[in-house]
Amino acid sequence: MWTITITKKRWKQFAIGAGITLVVIVIFFKMLNLPINNNINSAMPKSRHEFETIYERQQRLIEEQRLELQRTKEELTRLQDDLRALQSNTPRKYPKVKYLNYKNRKRILITGGAGFVGSHLVDNLMLAGHEVIVVDNFFTGRKRNVAHWLGHENFELIHHDIVNPLFIEVDEIYHLASPASPPHYMLNPVKTIKTNTMGTINVLGLAKRVMARVLIASTSEVYGDPTVHPQPESYWGHVNPIGPRACYDEGKRVSETLSYAYAKQEKVQVRVARIFNTYGPRMHMNDGRVVSNFILQALRNETITVYGNGKQTRSFQYVDDLVDGLISLMMSNYTQPVNLGNPVEHTIEEFAFIIKELVGGHSKVERTDAMEDDPQRRKPDINRAKKYLNWEPKVPLKMGLLRTIDYFRKELERSDRYAANSKKYFESHDLERSQKHYQFDTDNG
Ligand SMILES: NC(=O)c1ccc[n+]([C@@H]2O[C@H](COP(=O)([O-])OP(=O)(O)OC[C@H]3O[C@@H](n4cnc5c(N)ncnc54)[C@H](O)[C@@H]3O)[C@@H](O)[C@H]2O)c1
Repeated sequence: MWTITITKKRWKQFAIGAGITLVVIVIFFKMLNLPINNNINSAMPKSRHEFETIYERQQRLIEEQRLELQRTKEELTRLQDDLRALQSNTPRKYPKVKYLNYKNRKRILITGGAGFVGSHLVDNLMLAGHEVIVVDNFFTGRKRNVAHWLGHENFELIHHDIVNPLFIEVDEIYHLASPASPPHYMLNPVKTIKTNTMGTINVLGLAKRVMARVLIASTSEVYGDPTVHPQPESYWGHVNPIGPRACYDEGKRVSETLSYAYAKQEKVQVRVARIFNTYGPRMHMNDGRVVSNFILQALRNETITVYGNGKQTRSFQYVDDLVDGLISLMMSNYTQPVNLGNPVEHTIEEFAFIIKELVGGHSKVERTDAMEDDPQRRKPDINRAKKYLNWEPKVPLKMGLLRTIDYFRKELERSDRYAANSKKYFESHDLERSQKHYQFDTDNG
């Protein structure tokens, strides 16, 4: 009885299936406009006239379909334009910013705001409700770092080289424009000096004209290869003026000198932050510095290379801590240079092992030749920042490193995807990928 029921059920399913298939076949042939029951012979033209009629009918059909396709394409283009117009009129979703009234809201210029530190400063000031204007020549910065603010009514991005004067109305200026990592600033040393001298003069001139307060992003490199540890702001430094790092070190020293000259002579309100090694998301993956080198090598399971004997020390601060320090300094009444850095010191070798452990994988740690003028110790004395700004770093090293590793991992996945897509594109278009050359004219650049 049970077997019979199954068989009946199957039979019913089979009948329904066959019925549907038949209907599909009929619809298919109808669409092709072919006779279903006629055999091949009956579809064949019987005379030359009949053949010509069929041929003409088919040509007409093809022409109609071609016109239809063209109309559809035009319609699609129109719809795409409409969509684009609609998207440009639809307010984008931005991170929620605080509302500040006219009295408290400031117009803040950030030179180099599309770079690593600058873009985090942009986020902080935007969220606080200020109007932020970024000026950047995109030498080492990227539009992508601030893309999430593009179109926001409080935000503006200006493509401009700070070596040229700038006329703009602002209340505060954070002057961060300058390549920061050795491979970048050594690529065009003359341009690095110009950015830190002519660029700083332009910024200070602007600050003088509009009576804006200006914060100069200086660096621990003004201490050179220090003979005093940790380095207090009162230490004058030990810099090689003709070494490979001089374009940056001396450039920043002049930048500081210019700031105090403008303060004394032109009454410009200046703040000087001496920034120590900083790391975090959006830092350059290939900037040749310890954190990025080690993370990349560990993520790729390559050997982690330590320059020299690995006993040289560094202290790294997380970018959020630095941004808090910069804003506190700008808001304070303290006018002398202030060290902003994390005083917790590690040897380079220790860093290599910490990063290896956090990333996982099976990289080895190996030593290689020492770098020229590579400082042996770098550790900030942050008593001034503690006393006058009530500031000290808060983000623990491992937490900051984990966030940075996460960013690097995503960036690597993104560039792998991009490489795979462009390989497919170039293969399918049979094109050779052209090498990109950055050229710098040292007279004009
Ligand atoms: N990151 C650190 O560890 C560190 C340490 C000490 C000092 N600093 C200082 O902090 C500032 C920011 O450093 P960063 O790490 O964000 O570097 P970065 O290279 O990511 O950012 C610098 C930005 O300045 C822009 N820029 C360079 N030259 C310019 C020019 N002539 N005109 C306009 N824009 C220009 C770049 O395109 C980039 O967006 C720099 O002045 C740097 O010297 C950084």
